[in-house]
Amino acid sequence: MSAKDNVPKFSIKTAAPEKLKSDCVVAGVFEENRLSAAARALDKASKGRIAAALKSGDMEGRAGSTLLLRDLPGIAAPRVLLVGLGKQEEFAEKAYRDAVANAVKAVGNTAARDALVTLTEIKVGKRSADWNLTQAAIVAGDALYRFDRMKSKPDNNSSRLNSIGFLAADSLAAKSLKQGVAITNGMALARDLGNTPSNVCTPAYLATQARQLARTYGFKCKVLDRAACEKLGMGSFLSVAKGSDKPPMFIELRHDGGKKGAQPIVLVGKAITFDAGGISLKPPADMDEMNYDMSGGGAVLGAFRAIGELGLKLNVVGLVPACENLPDAHANKPGDIVTSMSGQTIEILNTDAEGRLILCDALTYAERFKPAAVVDLATLTGACVIALGHHPSALYANDDKLAQALEAAADAAWDRVWRMPLWDEYQEQLKSNLADMANIGGRAGGSITAACFLSRFARNYTWAHLDIAGTAYRSGRDKKGSTGRPVPLLVQYLIDQAGRG
Ligand code: BES
Ligand code: MN
Ligand code: ZN
Repeated sequence: MSAKDNVPKFSIKTAAPEKLKSDCVVAGVFEENRLSAAARALDKASKGRIAAALKSGDMEGRAGSTLLLRDLPGIAAPRVLLVGLGKQEEFAEKAYRDAVANAVKAVGNTAARDALVTLTEIKVGKRSADWNLTQAAIVAGDALYRFDRMKSKPDNNSSRLNSIGFLAADSLAAKSLKQGVAITNGMALARDLGNTPSNVCTPAYLATQARQLARTYGFKCKVLDRAACEKLGMGSFLSVAKGSDKPPMFIELRHDGGKKGAQPIVLVGKAITFDAGGISLKPPADMDEMNYDMSGGGAVLGAFRAIGELGLKLNVVGLVPACENLPDAHANKPGDIVTSMSGQTIEILNTDAEGRLILCDALTYAERFKPAAVVDLATLTGACVIALGHHPSALYANDDKLAQALEAAADAAWDRVWRMPLWDEYQEQLKSNLADMANIGGRAGGSITAACFLSRFARNYTWAHLDIAGTAYRSGRDKKGSTGRPVPLLVQYLIDQAGRG
């Protein structure tokens, strides 16, 4: 099953909500029974039935609450779902996103096959109607996403909802919806890849997925095997790969949608399909989640799906170094020194700091594209999760303009980042007596020293690094799952760049 099957069809609806035929019409209500415009229209058409239901106290507009009404007079749809929006004065991005998610989940629990969601017409702070639509597609796609390919039979709670209309003032809004749908589909691919366990989602599996994307959307795809990487001198990447019998794959995707010869944007994604830590073995707790250590690579493939779907007028290269990090007779040992493709030597003091070892060679390889900018994405450090938690990704950059462009895209896509320092003072923590640098910088500022390590391989172009350890997936036995981040931010950034050129 392709990821696309998980996501319902989205469309724009412009008619009056009471007149539109659908299995369920969704309208928002603020606290103190303040009706949104659509709820007011439905109330009027039904001669006060919405207000009467609220007056009964069954639903008071609190955030997270919903109320399903059936067969109201004067309304074409057989179901009306009221969704609590919370306090009107406090209605902002999070409240809007929560309301859309709650709405589609609640409709999904009914027998409705299609729905009309009117929440898109509510003003969200300073955001535009276009923002509302793009976000609605992203949030609805997220809320309805299921991953059941590993179950012997699909969960019987999967919803029948396969089509959602969003209310908008005019059908020109189609462009914003299309961007949201492309982002949702890209996220669904990244999530499918992340959620697929490491015994299935191997480096070779990722390579197959990349080739398939290339066939579907007309990208160029090249997969470098171990011998090809050896020839290039990728001694750091290959030192990690040695510890597994699954062959490493260095995946390269190219979308030549921009002007011929225009400098490309290069996306680099860490794809450790399983990170056991190597000889510096991780403790057992939560090690089951280390299949998500390919989320950076998964996000690159997800972003490419969206790039293909949107046909972005931009040159983009995707690089995904993929391998496993296992303890083995051939694995790196603490104290080993390897030579990276850049020629710089690295003393591997901890084999669990492997992400930077595969990324550094990919960053060097990226030079050949004479990139306009390079953005790498990696579930790089546990320290990042300690520093920032699960809401923003950590952003590092050697260029303020690039950082600002990514911050703006992250804000627009509501896939937020927080900029962190890359000061020279931190670089000193990477000193080694025996090699050009060590691969770890001690416990203090672990996400920062990891970024400092990478910066030494990104001196020849403008570069940013996103540590997505806290944002790419959710942890916990019954909660774990890929989030699809930072696909929204990447796609928004690329859309912005394509618009400028
Ligand atoms: N993939 C991990 C980082 C990670 C840890 C992501 C937990 C998500 C949750 C990475 O390869 C790693 O093991 N990093 C080490 C670095 C340390 C040895 C300097 C870490 O964070 O502990
Ligand atoms: Mn590791
Ligand atoms: Zn790792």
